[in-house]
Amino acid sequence: MKKITIAVDGLSSTGKSTLAKQLAKKLHYIYVDSGAMYRAVTLYAMQEGFIENGEIAKADLIESLDKIELKFVFNTHLGFAEMFLNGKNVEREIRTLEVSKNVSQVAELEQVRTKLVAMQQEMGKEKGVVMDGRDIGTVVFPNAELKVFMTASPEKRAVRRYKELLDKGENVKYEEILENVQKRDYIDSNRQISPLVKADDAIDFDNSDVGLDDQFQRIYEHALRIIEK
Ligand code: DC
Repeated sequence: MKKITIAVDGLSSTGKSTLAKQLAKKLHYIYVDSGAMYRAVTLYAMQEGFIENGEIAKADLIESLDKIELKFVFNTHLGFAEMFLNGKNVEREIRTLEVSKNVSQVAELEQVRTKLVAMQQEMGKEKGVVMDGRDIGTVVFPNAELKVFMTASPEKRAVRRYKELLDKGENVKYEEILENVQKRDYIDSNRQISPLVKADDAIDFDNSDVGLDDQFQRIYEHALRIIEK
C-alpha cells in the first residue's frame, strides 16, 4: 500500500497529538510530536538558567544549540515514542505548565526552528509519518498528501488541558491555563518565522463539539481515500 505524509497542525490543546497517535497506530506509521522537540529545547534552556521570569537569554541558548541532543525512543508499554534530552527521558518534565509558559518564546527563535525543522524533515523523508505541530503542513512538509488544521474554542481547550494537568497531579488554576492557551495562540500565530497558519490545502476541523472516536473516523476515512487513490 502506498505511504503518505500526514500533517496535523492547529491551535494548542486541540487534541492534535491524540488524533495523530490514533492515525499512526491504525496505519502503522511513525508518529512525531514536533511540539515535544520545542518543549525539550525549552526545558534545556530553563535547566541551564537561560530563562528567568519569562526572559530568554537568546544568544546563550543559540550558542548552546549544538549541545542539545534530542531523540524519540519508542515505549512499547505506552505505544508511542518518548522524548529524550541529552540521554534522559524528559517526557513528564516537558509537559508542565512552566514549560508551556516559556515554549512559545523559544519557538520564535529562527536558529531553533532551523535545527528542529531539519530533524523533522529527516524523520519523515521515507513518508509513512504522522507529524503534529504548527508549521508541518506549511513549512516542514508542504507537499504532505493529507493536512489537517485543528481548532476549538479557547474555553474548551483550557478545560481539557486543566483536567489533563490535574490528573497528573499538578496544582493549577483553570484561569491560568486559559490565559496560557490564549497567550500561546497569539504568539504562535503572530511570530515572524513560520507562524501558525492554515495551509490552503488543509482540512479545517473544529472539534469543540466532536467526540474523539468520531473525529478519528472522519479523518481516517479521508486518509484511506488518499492512500487508495
Ligand atoms: O504542540 P505543543 O502544544 O506541545 O507545542 C508546544 C509549543 O511549541 C507551541 O506553543 C508552539 C511550538 N511549536 C511550534 O512552534 N512549531 C511546531 N511545529 C510545534 C510546536
